[in-house]
Amino acid sequence: MLKLLKLLGDGRFHSGQDLGAALGVSRSAVWKQLQHLEAELNLPIHKVRGRGYQLAKPLSLLEESAIVEHSQGEHWPALIFDCIDSTNAQALRAIAEGQVAPFLVLAERQTAGRGRRGRQWASPFAENLYYSLVLRIDGGMRQLEGLSLVVGLAVLRALQSFGVAEVGLKWPNDILVNNQKIAGILLELVGDPADVCHVVLGIGINVNMQATSEVDQQWTSMGRETGVVIDRNQLVARLNKSLQGYLGQHRQAGFGGLQHEWEQAHVWQGRPVSLIAGVNKIDGVVLGIDAQGALRLAVDGVEKSFSGGELSLRLRDDS
Ligand code: BTN
Repeated sequence: MLKLLKLLGDGRFHSGQDLGAALGVSRSAVWKQLQHLEAELNLPIHKVRGRGYQLAKPLSLLEESAIVEHSQGEHWPALIFDCIDSTNAQALRAIAEGQVAPFLVLAERQTAGRGRRGRQWASPFAENLYYSLVLRIDGGMRQLEGLSLVVGLAVLRALQSFGVAEVGLKWPNDILVNNQKIAGILLELVGDPADVCHVVLGIGINVNMQATSEVDQQWTSMGRETGVVIDRNQLVARLNKSLQGYLGQHRQAGFGGLQHEWEQAHVWQGRPVSLIAGVNKIDGVVLGIDAQGALRLAVDGVEKSFSGGELSLRLRDDS
């Protein structure tokens, strides 16, 4: 089915006969595969008598060779899937099977994309980026401090390099454009964080998605913001480069060296917020973050720090 998609990816018309000849199957087998593409991957296909078949929108798929072509320096080996439950879940399986880190897991589609706090991550075929980078950490806890915030900065800079304006970070690791989510980050860890462990840096970016009924919060995409179709292979290359730079700085100097840069990108700096922890809610004003990446809030005039993966921030109604 993927071979058929690649043939149609140029956005031109192809006759059933040509497609059948290229795939070595009959015209009726081509017809069946086309129906499958439409139904399963939600890809509209124009069928015009005498001309053949054309994808309603041109499509470019993820390819390691194209990522390498766009990369200027070192690149990470990539395992690319057409469809997977979750790139983070696949990354964890690959670690268990002994795959040597660093490596990337990418997918065109996820059937069980994981978000923070048990949420689903909408993952339609070939529209967005579902990216998991696996790192081996052997430097103890210091290498983990503030790591998810560092990944946020790297994603932010990659988005800005494509012309996405007004993009900022929301503690701990949401990436927003005018309060609409454009990307999210989910870190998962296996092993002993005090000794040797592996961390999966899961990144979801809304790239060319224009519509979906699967997201229950305000969202946007790079395509919506810039008005152009983004080349996802180029995005992977830029994201790799951005991550290599920020992860290198973090390894050398710890999170403290990036604390100020992160605060400058924080969209809710100085704003009155509620911090939600399960059923508990703490009201305060955002002071910033500390050298470990914990959130600093003024609560009833007293500074308090908060950290933990299950926390989330909301703007207060009175703000
Ligand atoms: C969030 O809730 O903001 C985090 C979303 C993280 C989604 C990405 S998509 C790639 C990777 N694989 C997953 O299953 N989740 C992360």
